[in-house]
Amino acid sequence: MGTKHHSLWQTLRDEAIRLSEEEKLLAPYFHEFVLKHASLEEALSAILAAKLASAPLSALSLTREIEHVFEQSAEIRAAVRRDLQAIEERDPAAGGVVEPFLHYKGFHSLEAYRVSHYLWNEHRFALAYYLRNRVTEIFAVDIHPAAKIGKGIFIDHATGVVIGETAHVGNDVSLLHGVTLGGTGKEHGDRHPKVGNGVLIGAGTKILGNVRIGEGSKIGAGSVVLDHVPPHSTVVGVPGRVVGHPKTGRPSLLMDQSIDSEELVFSSYTASML
Ligand SMILES: CC(C)(COP(=O)(O)OP(=O)(O)OC[C@H]1O[C@@H](n2cnc3c(N)ncnc32)[C@H](O)[C@@H]1OP(=O)(O)O)[C@@H](O)C(=O)NCCC(=O)NCCS
Repeated sequence: MGTKHHSLWQTLRDEAIRLSEEEKLLAPYFHEFVLKHASLEEALSAILAAKLASAPLSALSLTREIEHVFEQSAEIRAAVRRDLQAIEERDPAAGGVVEPFLHYKGFHSLEAYRVSHYLWNEHRFALAYYLRNRVTEIFAVDIHPAAKIGKGIFIDHATGVVIGETAHVGNDVSLLHGVTLGGTGKEHGDRHPKVGNGVLIGAGTKILGNVRIGEGSKIGAGSVVLDHVPPHSTVVGVPGRVVGHPKTGRPSLLMDQSIDSEELVFSSYTASML
């Protein structure tokens, strides 16, 4: 069932009830992480804490801390919902919302990052770093707590994603496993990529340096992007080159990973094209 006319939390509960009846072995699992909770935030806190707790930091203490952050930040509560809806809308393999909610490590990594980013802004650096480091250990995803990431983000498969300290990611961006938004090692301070709204970044792509990826662009799998990318460009290759323009203004929403060839360009791009 779509979530447009139905609250997301109610949809999650309905799906969990149906799956509990279909697969009795997992009924206690759906109860523990969805059905016994009073809200989406409470359930998500329990899931994240169960995965990210450690021997000296109990799941109970971590659950309370994550719940507190969700209570404090309406912005994070809205972002969580948009991220979950983004998966439902863009991932044909998701089959609803409860599976990604319970199992997608891209979603879990992103929401743990949102908590760590809040803590970072509160100057609670040690706990922010703890969460970041547990996420790298458990999910093989490394998102620095200081990075700035918009809403409606879909990190598909997620293994190996790295997002650096001064990176920015706009709204409605989709990225696949193995994407690095990293530094070149030659710059200091503000040294990471700035990704515009609606960008789709293919698997294994490395975007290095303080380069701007214009909104609505599509970067092909395995590219190494070292320069600014003008808005609404299709870029592929090592080093990345503009080869065309996506047929849609927001390639991230359709997850169409083919190279559009309406208007092939085949030229190097430069900052002056922005
Ligand atoms: C640092 C780095 C980006 C470029 O370093 P550099 O030696 O100063 O090279 P330049 O930027 O001057 O580029 C020289 C040429 O090589 C190309 N080039 C640079 N790095 C490249 C790479 N990784 N793959 C393919 N081509 C590359 C450039 O496009 C340029 O080509 P051109 O002369 O035709 O325009 C590159 O060496 C690199 O990939 N470093 C690893 C950084 C990394 O792993 N960061 C992740 C941090 S999380």
